[in-house]
Amino acid sequence: MERILVIGGARALGAAVARRAVQDGYDVVIGARDLAAAEALAVELGATAVRIDLQDETTMAAAAALLADGIDHLVMTGSAPHDVRAVELEHDKLVTAFTAKVIGPMLVAKHFAPVLRPTGSIVVFSGVVGWRPGPGSLVKGVTNGAVEYLARHLAADLAPVRVNAISPGVIDSGAWDRLGDGKAGLLSKSAAGTLVGRSGESDDIVDAVMWLLRAGFISGETVHLEGGARHKTA
Ligand SMILES: NC(=O)c1ccc[n+]([C@@H]2O[C@H](COP(=O)([O-])OP(=O)(O)OC[C@H]3O[C@@H](n4cnc5c(N)ncnc54)[C@H](OP(=O)(O)O)[C@@H]3O)[C@@H](O)[C@H]2O)c1
Repeated sequence: MERILVIGGARALGAAVARRAVQDGYDVVIGARDLAAAEALAVELGATAVRIDLQDETTMAAAAALLADGIDHLVMTGSAPHDVRAVELEHDKLVTAFTAKVIGPMLVAKHFAPVLRPTGSIVVFSGVVGWRPGPGSLVKGVTNGAVEYLARHLAADLAPVRVNAISPGVIDSGAWDRLGDGKAGLLSKSAAGTLVGRSGESDDIVDAVMWLLRAGFISGETVHLEGGARHKTA
């Protein structure tokens, strides 16, 4: 049975990946900074849990030691948005955002490289904003763009372990529930900005993650799951 560690796995897209991976017969480890949340989902799914904070390298080293008998796949969904205009940037929030998406996953790779089996893979998460600049999306855009390069360069560094990125459009993953009544407006606006005329569902992303885990001839790529949003001109 292949083992998969999902960091950010206690909620939203990470939890959806963990849930499907259990259904598909993987040995699933849910990694999250909130160990109680990870354990609660793990009990529900029949998985196990480990504490990993993408802002804290010591937790990565400890988790890698706990999983020293090996893992096959690593999926990382972490993000810490700092959605402000340039004049409003705050240094610490900027660093936190880069750490969640770029620096943290690189340090996870450092600690898990000795543990990852050579036939295994890593999936990291970018996002369509990396290719659609706009006011207030500076940090999200640059971090998402960096994730594309992270996948490419980490794939070369860790070969033959495969490393790929998924770049979602707007997905109703649970992440937008915090908008309350504003969520419907965001989803319909994003649907209008795609070629397929709808926003994304968690299953759109989970299907692609599960495919990438098995896609043994794909490495260093970014897969765009955004209904053609980058190609919509008007
Ligand atoms: N949903 C979308 O519309 C969309 C669009 C484009 C790109 N994406 C990208 O897709 C990925 C997953 O999206 P989502 O919808 O699941 O987003 P989300 O609801 O914001 O989830 C982010 C995940 O990152 C985890 N996380 C944040 N900081 C962490 C840290 N220091 N250590 C460990 N985990 C940490 C969160 O865990 P906690 O529970 O501890 O906060 C959560 O599980 C993200 O990278 C996001 O940027 C999503």
